[in-house]
Amino acid sequence: MTVQHKATLSFSDGTPSIEFPIYHGTVGPDVIDIRKLYAQTGKFTLDPGFMSTAACESKITYIDGDKGELLYRGYPIEQIAEHCDYLQTCYLLLNGELPDEAQRLDFDQRVTRHTMVHEQMARFLQGFRRDAHPMAVLVGMVGALSAFYHDSLDINNPEHRFVSAIRLIAKMPTLVAMAYKYSNGQPFMYPLNHLSYAANFMRMMFATPCEEYKPNDVLVRALDRILILHADHEQNASTSTVRLAGSSGANPFACIAAGIATLWGPAHGGANEACLVMLNDIQRMGGVEKIGEFIDQVKDKDSGVKLMGFGHRVYKNYDPRAKLMRETCHEVLGELGLHDDPLFALAMKLERIALEDEYFVKRKLYPNVDFYSGIVQKALGIPTEMFTCIFALARTVGWISQWNEMIADPDQKIGRPRQLFTGHVRRDVKPIPKASGAKK
Ligand code: SDX
Repeated sequence: MTVQHKATLSFSDGTPSIEFPIYHGTVGPDVIDIRKLYAQTGKFTLDPGFMSTAACESKITYIDGDKGELLYRGYPIEQIAEHCDYLQTCYLLLNGELPDEAQRLDFDQRVTRHTMVHEQMARFLQGFRRDAHPMAVLVGMVGALSAFYHDSLDINNPEHRFVSAIRLIAKMPTLVAMAYKYSNGQPFMYPLNHLSYAANFMRMMFATPCEEYKPNDVLVRALDRILILHADHEQNASTSTVRLAGSSGANPFACIAAGIATLWGPAHGGANEACLVMLNDIQRMGGVEKIGEFIDQVKDKDSGVKLMGFGHRVYKNYDPRAKLMRETCHEVLGELGLHDDPLFALAMKLERIALEDEYFVKRKLYPNVDFYSGIVQKALGIPTEMFTCIFALARTVGWISQWNEMIADPDQKIGRPRQLFTGHVRRDVKPIPKASGAKK
């Protein structure tokens, strides 16, 4: 980053004005470095929700919300989705460049060799109710990984960080599939090393020991693309959680477990599950004819109803991932002969109506990555409650890449925000008169 300009802050309360350097990145908004503000003025800034706050410098993912542009290490998501597979995308996010053929084969091999989990993990699962939400199970299992890998928890050792990254990328499909199999009482399926990453996951999810499972190449490619679209997304809520947890020196498995917990929220990664529930509700209410009534509910602030899968803190244009997800929807539904899938037809009608409605236009609310992802995952046979687990599986590489970038930063410090305190000032406890007959 370069400094070419300064910002001057002046005060009407007599505090002397202060100058701050303005840094320019390679692209995107400039930043005002206010690190010295409190030391020099005794004042904090206040920015709930971090609407105007850059928490870090990063080289990994860039989003232009106005253009609806998403770049992974400079490459547009549309080109990554077309020309790369998920493991090549993982290599790119982790290392900064796409792998050449030798690097790709080596990386695939490393990941393949780490897909199994410790057998104790199967017993760990037994502690959960069978009807536990799979995200609750996943948070527990990923956090528990730190109990198995004492050999790679020195976060200041780049080799340990790399091994942990490989282990997490490799084991997430196995853990997610185990959470699913545990919920329906079927036996766990072990990974098969000759299968691709996405094919291996689909087999662990849908195969049983009773018969051969032949992955459908079109569906495998669709799933691989879904993983690519969810791989990273700058400093979103779950990534910021991973960075904050990592800033204390917590081990990578614990940090990723914290990220999974954050992603679960319906305002974040839980929106894909919530969006499908919403579409099913509208379908039950009467389908396309009831869209107007539903939109009226959304516009009524008192209803608390949101159009799930719409809106975004950064995108004030169409989320490029939503476009690619809609195309993937077409491909998968076509491959499965589900052209007239009622939920897909309902979603497209809902999108069209919303995009013409002043409420959404004025607020620049567009479909985001979660709007179509539930429909395509349902078509792939993934149950609704598993959608966010798939999001977590895909985002693990983004989280671990951002965590690695932070730990490797020599200027990294523990994150410790302050506050505007509006509670009681100091006061003394007054003795409370004892009721007669009270216990001594
Ligand atoms: C993800 O950050 C990331 O990068 C996240 C993500 C990633 O890859 O990591 O992209 C993944 O989380 C996508 C977002 C998934 N969430 C949803 O689809 C849930 C529905 N969307 C909203 O909850 C909301 O749009 C957020 C949380 C996504 C963004 O919220 P903001 O930026 O805080 O915006 P806001 O709530 O201040 O909304 C601005 C206005 C408000 O109305 P007014 O107060 O101006 O009258 O827009 C309204 C909101 O009420 N609004 C919506 C709406 N989203 C915003 N109204 C109806 N339906 C919606 N979906």
